[in-house]
Amino acid sequence: MSRSQRTIGILTGGGDCPGLNAVIRAVVLTATEQYGWNVVGFRDAFVGLVEERWLPLDRNTVRGILPVGGTILGTASRRNPSEWKVEIDGELKTVDRSPNVAQTIKNLGIEALIIVGGDGTMAITQQYVERFDLKVIGVPKTIDNDLKATQVTFGYATAVVTATEAVDKLHTTAASHHRVMVLETMGRHVGWIALESGVSGGADVILIPEIPYDIDKVCDKILNRKSHGSRFSIVVVAEGAKPQEGEASVLGSGQQGTIHERLGGIGLEVAQQIQAKTNMITRATVLGHLQRGGSPCPFDRYLGTRFGRHAVELIAQEKYGRMVRYQNGDIGDIPIAEVIGGFKAVDPDGEAVKTAEALGTSFGR
Ligand code: F6P
Repeated sequence: MSRSQRTIGILTGGGDCPGLNAVIRAVVLTATEQYGWNVVGFRDAFVGLVEERWLPLDRNTVRGILPVGGTILGTASRRNPSEWKVEIDGELKTVDRSPNVAQTIKNLGIEALIIVGGDGTMAITQQYVERFDLKVIGVPKTIDNDLKATQVTFGYATAVVTATEAVDKLHTTAASHHRVMVLETMGRHVGWIALESGVSGGADVILIPEIPYDIDKVCDKILNRKSHGSRFSIVVVAEGAKPQEGEASVLGSGQQGTIHERLGGIGLEVAQQIQAKTNMITRATVLGHLQRGGSPCPFDRYLGTRFGRHAVELIAQEKYGRMVRYQNGDIGDIPIAEVIGGFKAVDPDGEAVKTAEALGTSFGR
């Protein structure tokens, strides 16, 4: 085992999710205790690299963080140093702060950087690999579970637990009041959270972006249940779900003028339509960021820990420019260049959807 003195860095980028601290802890413990390296953590994703805000990480700094949600390093969504917004003479201008990133890394003598993030963060990372020949390792994270290069990401399982608990809770109040309850879940342009929590919670209707819905079919299902004596229904709607003749519901554009739009509002829209068409009292609940918070479930701690250790092993083997991933129960890796673009969607005719339909759940088609 090599014990030469090396320094590596780590940052967490994009939206937070449960399990990030498990990765940080595994990276720090493996690097410091197995290899005797130094570890530096950058605050608030790439912002810390641009503004030179960092802290040394050792066993003491990561003590007790395994069950803690969020990230002890902080994060920032969509802050790309090559498109940095600064106020110059009262005007908001875009400047390229990437050279600062390369300089900070050089100044601190950082040999390799572990970047924990989703698709957006990986795309920024790849730019640095190409422009500055940086040695990086990517670790995928997102509650949406939409990264195509890994079968699962940590954070997703905890989000599904939170959403399923919400479905369970809505069930009891829906049944008591004979109402229709609509739950809007996150997931961006994919329906994984809605599908898994909906099936696990026994939802009557699940609406996902991959299967554009017909509101009349949704109402038929609810009225059919009522005619058979079930005077309540549970509808789980992914935030990116859209009607057959329409678009996803958007709350506004992303922060810092990026191309990312903020999805949301479909839960209320669907609830209003159901109430109007069925004459049943219908309420909408938006689960929102509760899905990103809280203590990670054991699966996410376990996966995050394995990802973190594997990332350090890749550095030890000097296999740079790769992203850690989960395939068939094993931890492996893939070039970051191959993971950019596209996403992993629910198969509308796949086994999971067929299972739900076989049990009577409607997807509004
Ligand atoms: O990608 C994770 C996620 O939580 C999505 O499910 C959601 O659409 C988005 O981030 C919310 O972003 P923000 O925290 O910027 O509102």
